[in-house]
Amino acid sequence: MKKVKFFGIIMLLVFFLGGCNSANEQKMATNEHEARVDALLAKMTLKEKLGQLMQYTGAGEVTGPVEGTYSRLDKIKAGEAGSMLNVNGASYTRKLQQIAVEETRLGIPLIFGYDVIHGYKTIFPVPLGEAASWNLESIEKAARIAAEEAASAGQHWTFAPMVDIARDARWGRVMEGAGEDTYYGSLVAAARVRGFQGKDLSANNTIVACAKHFAAYGAAQAGRDYYTTEVSERTFREIYLPPFKAAVDAGVLTFMSAFNDLNGIPTSGNAFLTKQVLINEWNFQGFVVSDWGAVQQMINHRYVKDLKQATEVSFNAGVHMDMENNAYFTHLEELINDGKVSLSQVDEAVRRILLVKAKLGLFEDPYKYCDTTHEKNTLLKAEFLEFARQSARESFVLLKNQKNTLPLSENIKSVALIGPLANSKVDMMGTWSARGDAKDVITLKEELEKRADLKVNFVKGSNINDEKNNEFEQALAAAKKSDVVIFAVGEEAMMSGEALSRMDIRIPEVQRKLMEYVLKSGKPTVLVLFNGRPLSLVWENQNLDAILDVWLPGTMAGPAIADVLFGAYNPSGKLPMSFPYDVGQCPIFYNHKNSGRPATQERYTSKYIDGPNEALFPFAFGLSYTTFEYANLKLDKTTIGMNDSLHISVDVKNTGSRAGEEVVHLFVNDSFASITPAVKQLRGFEKIKLEAGETKNVLFSIHPKDLAFVGFDLNWITEPGEFEVEVKDLKAIFVVK
Ligand code: NOJ
Repeated sequence: MKKVKFFGIIMLLVFFLGGCNSANEQKMATNEHEARVDALLAKMTLKEKLGQLMQYTGAGEVTGPVEGTYSRLDKIKAGEAGSMLNVNGASYTRKLQQIAVEETRLGIPLIFGYDVIHGYKTIFPVPLGEAASWNLESIEKAARIAAEEAASAGQHWTFAPMVDIARDARWGRVMEGAGEDTYYGSLVAAARVRGFQGKDLSANNTIVACAKHFAAYGAAQAGRDYYTTEVSERTFREIYLPPFKAAVDAGVLTFMSAFNDLNGIPTSGNAFLTKQVLINEWNFQGFVVSDWGAVQQMINHRYVKDLKQATEVSFNAGVHMDMENNAYFTHLEELINDGKVSLSQVDEAVRRILLVKAKLGLFEDPYKYCDTTHEKNTLLKAEFLEFARQSARESFVLLKNQKNTLPLSENIKSVALIGPLANSKVDMMGTWSARGDAKDVITLKEELEKRADLKVNFVKGSNINDEKNNEFEQALAAAKKSDVVIFAVGEEAMMSGEALSRMDIRIPEVQRKLMEYVLKSGKPTVLVLFNGRPLSLVWENQNLDAILDVWLPGTMAGPAIADVLFGAYNPSGKLPMSFPYDVGQCPIFYNHKNSGRPATQERYTSKYIDGPNEALFPFAFGLSYTTFEYANLKLDKTTIGMNDSLHISVDVKNTGSRAGEEVVHLFVNDSFASITPAVKQLRGFEKIKLEAGETKNVLFSIHPKDLAFVGFDLNWITEPGEFEVEVKDLKAIFVVK
């Protein structure tokens, strides 16, 4: 016993000293970086300083207006560029870096930024799909791999994660985030930051992350991209800000401002956001980059009269780097002379940017990310592809499985594979697919055709969204001679992402008609649904036997889908966003309020006259090939004080005949409060694996601070009172004193 105690003390000391050591090392590194940056700043001319604030695009993914030539060699040579985006590859980035380092007076290295959103070369499912896995470890690992590939190809910085809460399926960019829930979105935000930045930013396989778009960009009115947002500060702080705060707590080093105006003030010139909240309240130490052209767009917002005023407003609000606005270099000197901007502010912005470069280790070795051999050996490693397959299949959500149509039985000898997405490589990657190459993608058709024991009768059937080249008859004939029909339909890549909002969120009509026609065969039907957003699936739910939502699954689409169709993997995904019956319900989210007249059969209650209030497939919904039974929801206390914790336990049993994974969600609801509460709030989850017949006990703990909300005075508060815990359909009450 004594020995054990002694050993324990030694371990504690080792742990403590180890912890101190690494904290000391970090402190020393920070001091070193600061000293280096201060020394450099002392040598810089104003023009050189302003140059550091500028980011220009190369010829890659151009998503806004560009002035001048793409190569920007002139700007780099003149020391007028601190950063480039959209330039790729170890060899080309080395060439540009060489100019910055060897041909400018002070040799300050560039920082290269790029949209590495869901993979660099090995493409993972779109982020909304990844979020459906509810596997934070796997989400972090996908970001880790993306960083490793991107870093090997010269990148230092990704414009990810997008942590915007999104409650409106019309908004095209819902596909880039983690969905509608703030609690879950915050955990995913932190996981992605950890994945990209790793433990040591100066290593050659980690890159700087960027929390975007600051803020409330996802609340765009009517789901229309770039559009106005009006959100009360209370709701803003409770719903939209926490994922950004979680990113800061996880150590994110950059932020990106947004395109939208928020309550009348464009977010790229909004001192409340960047100065007050981010820098003063959260003590953020990194830097803020504007979104593309978002400084100059304040003119279109009619918030400023010209680019000079836009520069003044943006820079004074705390946006440190100018992405493709051509504003800061052009106007800051004049604004300093006019006394509108101070030199010390310029120094502060430059200092923040140089510190990030120092943390990346760029001053020690500006070429450490530009090694072509390392790049070649890193991209598309077999283990990365294997992980992309795993992460894709874990993202799939089984929405319907009537008569156990899935998994396909061994007796199935032939399939009719029908639909424009069965063999479309480029669409598997979704938008923001970085350097993902369509030729590396394996489609469902290619994968199924590898199976010697299966006859694949493939017919494309229709285009994505027009009536040209319809092949309805051929599709029906294929169905008639097959055991089962698999429809591979839905949204193509270019139907979700930036500037891709939709007002109709159904599967495009021509594809629906194709399915309807083929139903005449009377064969069992499986819908493999491709999508970057929640869709309205009323017809599909009524008419098809099984629906498997596979999002836009990435490079390993085909193998991952086949794994699930044939049962090598039992689907475990759960929706991170509600799928409405109809677009008319948008925005729709599970944690809505109750209203004064909650819906009943009575006439004067809060409901639609032509459809339900609820989602067709709600948040957290997803089936499995097995079944789970929940029992014995127990709380260790029925009353807790403000400093106590409540322990909750529940038994989950796999009652089916095959192993499966289940995501156990814990919801809490507040019976009443000084701010009307949501009907329920997610406050915990755990993903568990259960063998057939196995039971596991799942434990959660809740502290009163987990029950806090933003009060009328804008402070987080936990009010005493009665709460209800909800796990599946089990409920229990407790009281906070
Ligand atoms: C505009 C997008 O809003 C942003 O998310 C992206 O990072 C930049 N363009 C750079 O491509």
